[in-house]
Amino acid sequence: MLITSLLVLILFNVLATAKIFAKPSSLMFSCLTASQEFQYDFVPPPDVIPFWYIACNYEPALGSIVFCMDSNADSICPFSNSLEVLALGCQTQGDRTLTQTYLMESGKNATKYMKNPASDPDFNFTQLTTPIMFNMSEVVNKKDAYYNFFDNLDDSTKFGDFTIIYWGVLLILIGLFNHISAHNYLKSISLNSRLNQWKALVVLPTLSSYHLNPARFRGIAFFEALLPLRQETFVLIAYILLCVYYTTSNYKVIANSPLFGSPYRQYLRFISDRTGIFAFTQLPLLILFGGRNNILMTISGLPFNTFIIFHKWISRVMMLCAVVHAHQFVIYLEATGTFRRSLGELYFQFGELALLCCLLIMVQSVFYFRKRCYELFLVLHIFLAFIFLVGCYFHVSKIGYSEWILATLGLWILDRVWRFVNIYRYGVQTAQLTVFHPHSTDSNREDPTVKVSIPKPATWKSYPGCFVYLYFLDPHLKFWESHPFTIYDSTDQFGDPTPMINIYIKPKCGTTKAIYDQIMSRDITGVKVLVEGPYGHRAHTENYDQLLLFVGGNGIPGPFSHAARSVSALPYKDVESFKKVELVWSIKTLSALNWFYDELIQLKDTNVSVTVYVTRGDLSLADDDNSSTSSNNNIEPEILTETSHLLKDDTNNKSKKREVSSIITIAEKFHNLSKFVTFIRGRPNFEKKLDQVINECSQASKITTIGLVACGPSLMCDNIRNLVAHRLSRNDTGKFRIDLLEELQVW
Ligand SMILES: Cc1cc2nc3c(=O)[nH]c(=O)nc-3n(C[C@H](O)[C@H](O)[C@H](O)COP(=O)(O)OP(=O)(O)OC[C@H]3O[C@@H](n4cnc5c(N)ncnc54)[C@H](O)[C@@H]3O)c2cc1C
Ligand SMILES: NC(=O)c1ccc[n+]([C@@H]2O[C@H](COP(=O)([O-])OP(=O)(O)OC[C@H]3O[C@@H](n4cnc5c(N)ncnc54)[C@H](OP(=O)(O)O)[C@@H]3O)[C@@H](O)[C@H]2O)c1
Repeated sequence: MLITSLLVLILFNVLATAKIFAKPSSLMFSCLTASQEFQYDFVPPPDVIPFWYIACNYEPALGSIVFCMDSNADSICPFSNSLEVLALGCQTQGDRTLTQTYLMESGKNATKYMKNPASDPDFNFTQLTTPIMFNMSEVVNKKDAYYNFFDNLDDSTKFGDFTIIYWGVLLILIGLFNHISAHNYLKSISLNSRLNQWKALVVLPTLSSYHLNPARFRGIAFFEALLPLRQETFVLIAYILLCVYYTTSNYKVIANSPLFGSPYRQYLRFISDRTGIFAFTQLPLLILFGGRNNILMTISGLPFNTFIIFHKWISRVMMLCAVVHAHQFVIYLEATGTFRRSLGELYFQFGELALLCCLLIMVQSVFYFRKRCYELFLVLHIFLAFIFLVGCYFHVSKIGYSEWILATLGLWILDRVWRFVNIYRYGVQTAQLTVFHPHSTDSNREDPTVKVSIPKPATWKSYPGCFVYLYFLDPHLKFWESHPFTIYDSTDQFGDPTPMINIYIKPKCGTTKAIYDQIMSRDITGVKVLVEGPYGHRAHTENYDQLLLFVGGNGIPGPFSHAARSVSALPYKDVESFKKVELVWSIKTLSALNWFYDELIQLKDTNVSVTVYVTRGDLSLADDDNSSTSSNNNIEPEILTETSHLLKDDTNNKSKKREVSSIITIAEKFHNLSKFVTFIRGRPNFEKKLDQVINECSQASKITTIGLVACGPSLMCDNIRNLVAHRLSRNDTGKFRIDLLEELQVW
């Protein structure tokens, strides 16, 4: 809570302190620059900025400026505000602290000795010792030019602020909607058919058919991408339209600006300034949305992968603004003949560096690369982002706006600190590793699961569906990497189990494969680990009357935790609130029971009804063998566990090495589970199941809320999402409400 409050404070502090120039500064600057046309009898010390130093420290010059401001002040550029800006400028640039009263006196005093060059044709413009009346029409003209220039700078900051407010307001509204829904407040309102239509047409559906499953354009692997949901797309379209409007509107130019020249040059300069500053204002959001600790996740109830989608699109907008900024500025410099000189200036070189990093980030983040080499992507991403921010900082350090960079770095550092705190709270633990191979008769032999069991500190609290990032402290296991895994907390179950968190890893091609390979080649059974978490949005499944859990393969721990926790909560609930929980788990072969038997068996004699669909293996094998553990083995009594165990399988010679403290065959497991679990051969028909539950609800006398948790292969989850959307769109949801609580995340 502390950290999230700090994050928000930083963001709002930036909003409050970001520079606002226009109104007070334009008059002050027009008088200040008018004073530079005269040469006073005053030699400033060598190490100061003469522009400011003479104006602030030589009384006749100072008096002339104040007089000029007093004479040209109006409601847009009030005198007192101009004095304030002058005092601030003198303090920061002119080595002199002046009060407003002093400045007013100086102006009054100047009138006594004022000379007007316009009324004296022989006026000597050098070695001046008296206050001067400037050419007032020039001052007015300059004031307009300065006003337009500063006003554009202010608009850039203001419009950037508006986009931050857009995100804030939007996420709060989504949060309100989600929390009202999840906590079952206003149950009847949530049954409103318009609301269901809204959910069916806007909130739930995927954009095409895919969301978590990558979509391919014309079947070309390089053009593969994760598409946002329809709701996320609308949010992003609105954001992009806002950005287009804010970067293209409200430019004010004059016929011939004494500062920038023709309207064309003014546009070049103003568009460059607008897009540059606007890009900066997006930076804190970029880091906040991309970080693991983000209060907006709690507020909105949206998952991390939604924020990663927002992060990606904000970064694209930011990058586009940076490119336009650079392009317009270079043309502007060429038009003013200062391009060559600028090339040698430090601010310009840092700008080039930042832009280069920005473009490289865009290229290396392409899904094609990210999917194939996630860790390389991550390391490069962090490195380039850091250099980008450093480049941005030195690009503007002399002209302002660096507060956006500091705020961004601040958010980043806080996120890292909090991650460290999260790791520290769990402490270093020794994890127990177990490999479970598919059965030797299974068609799919290459689908092992690594179970990681980690002792849990008493003070560490989890919630169903949460995930942690795991670091394996072993040089062979890439200890510098951290990977997200959903946990099953053993304290979710009945009784008084040893507090552990369990993770069920399906090895892929990178670190997870390295873990598997190391266990197999080095016989390791334990490894020191760091655990960072818990993370992830909290689905309040306890508030639903009906809980439907649709699961595929290794997606089981999250949904199972929901089931286990709802079971353990039952004794404290009255009969009225008795909840129906249905778990539908699709597995390829019965071998999956090996690594999840200990957990599944806990659901015996509870109100959770369990159906297991076996899509590739043969059910009859288990039937044949379910009477005993004898060697009648269509099913080998191959892997089996109750405490610590390791199976090493050399697939060539079938030699097997085991450390098994007690053995139960898969047939026995099947037999024990069959007492309360229904086993079915084939893929589940989720549509039929959903319809069946809905029909039951429709017959019930009271309003029923259904929480549908889905986790498993990405295509399965996308199908379930579209199925729920389609079901809600039929608009016959008279007595029930369905909320989809998706657990799977991909980024
Ligand atoms: C919230 C969450 C919970 C998860 N829970 C489980 C679980 O309980 N059991 C399980 O088997 N798997 C789970 N996964 C998937 C698991 O994190 C990846 O399979 C694992 O990180 C792959 O590591 P690798 O180096 O072997 O991957 P690679 O073979 O290099 O990549 C395989 C895929 O995983 C993605 N990936 C790789 N590293 C990461 C990372 N650090 N963060 C996000 N994605 C990554 C890649 O983009 C790629 O698509 C979960 C993922 C997420 C996001
Ligand atoms: N929070 C998270 O993000 C999270 C948590 C845990 C796990 N994971 C990840 O989730 C993935 C889980 O998948 P897995 O590899 O374990 O699954 P899997 O073994 O490939 O498939 C599991 C089961 O789901 C079935 N299935 C697949 N696609 C389906 C579809 N479209 N409709 C209906 N059934 C379908 C399969 O049937 P067939 O045999 O017919 O294909 C199989 O029975 C893993 O990659 C894991 O890393 C993510």
